[in-house]
Amino acid sequence: MKGIVLAGGSGTRLYPATLAVSKQLLPVADKPMIYYPLSVLMLAGIRQILIISTPHDLPHYKRLLGDGSQFGLQLDYAEQPEPKGIAEAFIIGAGHVGDDSVALILGDNVFHGHAFSQVLTENARSVDGCVLFGYPVRDPQRFGVAELDVNGELVSIEEKPANPRSDLAVTGLYFYANDVVDIAKNLLPSERCELEITDVNRAFLDMGRAKLVELGRGHAWLDTGTPGALLQAGQYVHTMEERQGVRIACLEEVALRMGFVDADACYQLGQKCATSSYGQYIMSIATAYGANPARASRASS
Ligand code: G1P
Repeated sequence: MKGIVLAGGSGTRLYPATLAVSKQLLPVADKPMIYYPLSVLMLAGIRQILIISTPHDLPHYKRLLGDGSQFGLQLDYAEQPEPKGIAEAFIIGAGHVGDDSVALILGDNVFHGHAFSQVLTENARSVDGCVLFGYPVRDPQRFGVAELDVNGELVSIEEKPANPRSDLAVTGLYFYANDVVDIAKNLLPSERCELEITDVNRAFLDMGRAKLVELGRGHAWLDTGTPGALLQAGQYVHTMEERQGVRIACLEEVALRMGFVDADACYQLGQKCATSSYGQYIMSIATAYGANPARASRASS
């Protein structure tokens, strides 16, 4: 399965914070926002990932993440010149997807939850159409909204309905079979002139090939779209990290735990941020995993 992170848009609801900086580069607690969706793809076992952003912002993502080899990933980059909708990601990324299935995640979506990696890998394995992830919210009219029947089967999806049929928001994480590329190519723009991801999902639903996985109360799906929501997401991450002494979406740690890099290589990544508690955390995790600090230091010098 290939991965795509869509980190486009102009983040106008966060102005002036996003006048000069891409929204998905803003910090959520101790790390750039894009670390969170990237970690989700990595936890699903995905290593070939395309990052899509605006021509103006793309160089900053390249500077931050490089070719991904430090995390055992292969990162590629592509431009979305105009915000023409989420589904355009499959047209821009058609070459990247090739003959494979694909996971798309929006660059501003923050997920956290117990055994989330297991939920991801199980569903990534069995994609026959589309797999959506639903999350109950207080204000569903702001999102794509899913309706389930009494058997828990998906029966309808609506984009930002004035009168939502349920409180189940469709989150910004989607798994698709390869024909998503053809479906996206045949879409017509919506009234707001965008290729809507909800129209893609409806096409799979009409074919009887859409499944929704409910993320229950043991999970967090956090918003970062407004200054208040961004602050709350940061507070959530900070609270969990302080309380448990672990880091959420620490890419270096995820790469180590997933077996993408070895302990010495992970230690060296920590050394690059040795003056921050983030870097010190990486070094301590790598040491617990058997890194030899002297050997790792020699190898990096
Ligand atoms: C988009 C999708 C919507 C989905 C949401 C998740 O909305 O159109 O269906 O629920 O992402 O973050 P947007 O962020 O474009 O308002």
